[in-house]
Amino acid sequence: MRVAVLPGDGIGPEITREAVNLLEEIVRLFQRNIEIQYGQIGGAAIDEEGTPLPKATLQLCRTSDAVLLGAVGGPKWDGQPGHLRPEAGLLALRKELGLYANLRPITVFAGLEGASPLKGELLQDVDMVIVRELTGGLYFGTPKERRRSGQEWEAVDTLHYTEAEIERILRLGFEMARQRRRLLTSVDKANVLETSRLWRETAERLALEYPDVTLNHLLVDNAAMQLIKCPSRFDVIVTENMFGDILSDEAAMITGSIGMLPSASLSETGPGLYEPIHGSAPDIAGQNKANPLAMFLSVAMMLRQTAGWAREADAIQSAIESVLAEGWRTEDLGEPGTARLTTSEMGAKVREALAQYAKRG
Ligand code: NAD
Ligand code: IPM
Ligand code: MN
Repeated sequence: MRVAVLPGDGIGPEITREAVNLLEEIVRLFQRNIEIQYGQIGGAAIDEEGTPLPKATLQLCRTSDAVLLGAVGGPKWDGQPGHLRPEAGLLALRKELGLYANLRPITVFAGLEGASPLKGELLQDVDMVIVRELTGGLYFGTPKERRRSGQEWEAVDTLHYTEAEIERILRLGFEMARQRRRLLTSVDKANVLETSRLWRETAERLALEYPDVTLNHLLVDNAAMQLIKCPSRFDVIVTENMFGDILSDEAAMITGSIGMLPSASLSETGPGLYEPIHGSAPDIAGQNKANPLAMFLSVAMMLRQTAGWAREADAIQSAIESVLAEGWRTEDLGEPGTARLTTSEMGAKVREALAQYAKRG
């Protein structure tokens, strides 16, 4: 398997270093062939090459089987015009690779209940996946600009969706629900937005093809509340780009930390992109404090979904479970009385547990 590795900015390089160490351990323990090539993206690419997504990086990603990305962005580049910000590099990569489906699974690891701000009883049976549309909506609609209106400035972003874009992500939601608990919650704002009304009608039409799946609609404001009130009621949540972005950071806290949530972004054909849902965490960057587990779980998703290596993915999952069950934590998961590991110490613990797992067979 050929993997394009894009460390990016802030804590990106710190968690990516540990992810590569983990991949090398997979190679060693399971005799797998993984070829790693590095590319620049985000602020690092702006500094070195003047653009957040250099042509060589895009080419590298296109010719790889999968892309593993750390994070992009940081205060250093916040003053730049939109197209020269680090985030523009990530958005262009998603668009260029046609990564319309972003899967964000939310599970609570045994032992981590205390790290969640929610009461323990609310965390039982939490097992959901947010299916976020990733290449449409407000992020990409045009016009998208700043312009003069008489004496003052005005700005416009455009919320645009075609029926085909809506249908393909909803269909994936139905298909995934079919493989799980057969419950699909479609989140929209159909009481206000025309795109949401088209979304809801399309969902209703598709539901006729999936009689075995129960379809619910929730308005996004209510969904934000229900996620906290009763997270275990959700199985698959399918929603548009911006709603999915916001709801998934909220849902991350159910698990204890945003440093626990991985993601896979998939297209109809080409390479998948695997990245944690969190950002470059400028407030802790360079301190060896970041939680690398969201990144490790993203590696596991990559091995499972792109390579089809279920055994190796299970091994990473189990290694993380056992390290957490033993009480090891990074600072973000900090409960009183638990040991606080640095990023690299957590990386080493997970590799040790992985080796134990492989030895047991
Ligand atoms: P953020 O996710 O970077 O950080 C939010 C908070 O969570 C911070 O307090 C941070 O320290 C903490 N945090 C995040 N990841 C953590 C981890 N692995 N371990 C421990 N703590 C962690 O969000 P933000 O501060 O709003 O954004 C910072 C920058 O990251 C911005 O430039 C933003 O555009 C960018 N960003 C990038 C991505 C991405 O590359 N996919 C995602 C989100 C935000
Ligand atoms: C995410 C991030 C990105 C998004 C930003 C960095 C463009 O927040 O991956 O969730 O909004 O999609
Ligand atoms: Mn986000």
